[in-house]
This record gives sequence, structure tokens and C-alpha cells, in this order.
Amino acid sequence: MRRIGIDVGGSTLRVGEVDVRSGTLAGPVDAIPMPAGARPDDVLQALAASPVLRAGEGAVGLAFPSVAQHGVARTAANVDRSWIDLDVAAAFTRLTGRPTVFINDADAAGLAELRFGAGRALLAEAAAGGPPASRIMVLTFGTGIGTALFLDGRLWPNAELGHLMLPGVTDTDGEGWAAASVRTRLALDWSGWTRRVNDYLRELHRLLWPDVFIVGGAVSEHAADWVHLLECRARVVPAVLRGHAGVVGAALAAADAAQGAA
Ligand code: BGC
Repeated sequence: MRRIGIDVGGSTLRVGEVDVRSGTLAGPVDAIPMPAGARPDDVLQALAASPVLRAGEGAVGLAFPSVAQHGVARTAANVDRSWIDLDVAAAFTRLTGRPTVFINDADAAGLAELRFGAGRALLAEAAAGGPPASRIMVLTFGTGIGTALFLDGRLWPNAELGHLMLPGVTDTDGEGWAAASVRTRLALDWSGWTRRVNDYLRELHRLLWPDVFIVGGAVSEHAADWVHLLECRARVVPAVLRGHAGVVGAALAAADAAQGAA
């Protein structure tokens, strides 16, 4: 079975068709530049025009960098404020005629990693008597920091722990301190940036004590450059699905919702 997954990132909108039984892309991903201003009408219209979307059929999963509560965007940390309180699922259905499941982007990436990526191996190892993995936190480092919390493989949606304040950092939150975009903006080398990520991991761990962190986002394509520099009392493993986890996870969410409704 195939479903369309959409991942709205800070600078790029990605649309892909996903084989939801294997968690793999069924074809090339449309990468559309984020329209200037990132306003709802412009973004939704750019997505609706995607050839990949139009060629596919059935429900669509739309992953977005905000709290996504029952189809409605509730926050707008890195996008235009006019998204707040918009029923994005209904608006996209009106535009495309396609049933739409609206999901937080980190939650989508987390679902994909748990089912088909790094999390699958962790859960299998734990089930076979290996290191525990009942509490897994998936982190995505990009324009902001996305967080997805899993207890025994089940998601607690909309955890917004990228906005955690760190001890000793008074002028910004966790993502303002350690997102991948901060590395670019401040021209930090990998070790300079990972020192900041370590500050962030330390605080997250102190408060929530996960067994494992899965670290992802587009920056996980360079995992070999930085993941070994992380210091943390929990296990840390790189994400496996890399830049496409959001697209895959959005498609999974669409397929799961259709199944739940059946
Ligand atoms: C948003 C989250 C999102 C994360 C990653 C944060 O700024 O508040 O909803 O998951 O960025 O995109």
C-alpha cells in the first residue's frame, strides 16, 4: 500500500510517495522551496501543485513544524504566525479533495525511525534481552529542534522540548542554543556545535531520563562527523532514515489513521 507523505521544513517542502509496508520511498521526492513568508495559502498551494501528490491517490500525511492538535496548528515557532489555530487538515482537503492527517514533523520522523529506522533495531535488541529501550526520545536538529517521546513504542504527541530553557542560557531556548541552524548561523565547527548539543542533552536527560536518544534531522547525514562527540548518560544513536524520515512518517500516519477509521 502506498501513501503520500509531506514534510514541511523551514526552507524546503518535501512530497514523496511511500510504500507504507516497507517504509521506503516509492519514487523521487519533490523538493519545493518554501515560499517567501511561509504563509498558509502560499505553502498549501505550492504543496497542492506537486506532481508527486497529484499522481498519487488516497489519504495524505502532512508533517509540519508546530503543535498539530486534531488537525489544527497551535503554534508557529519558525513559520508565519497566521498558521496558529488554522485547521490545516481541513484546508488541505478543501484544496486537494484528499483526506489529510496533520502531524507534528518530529512526531512523524519519530514514527518512521521507530518502525523502520534506528528504533526498530533498538526495540528488537531490547526484546531479545539487550539494553532497555522502553523510553526512547527522537530528536531532530534542523531550523529548530523537534522532539518525539516514545514509551514502549507508543508516541506521546506534540512534546515541544526544543523550547526547554537551559541552565545558564538566559537569552534563548534549547533550539536557539543547539539547533543545526545555529551551527550554520554562527559558523561553528562540529565540536563547537556538539558542545551546545551536549548542554541540551544533559538537561533533557536530567529531567526525563530516556534510555536512548535517536538523533536525526538533515544533519544526521553527517552523523560520522559529530555523533561520536556527544556525551550523555543515556545511549545515543544516529537516525537511519536521515532527510526522509518526516516524509515516511507522515505517510505512515496517514495509513494508520485510515486503518483506525476502517
Ligand atoms: C517547533 C516544533 C517542531 C520543531 C522542529 C520547533 O520550533 O516548535 O513543533 O517540531 O521546531 O521542526
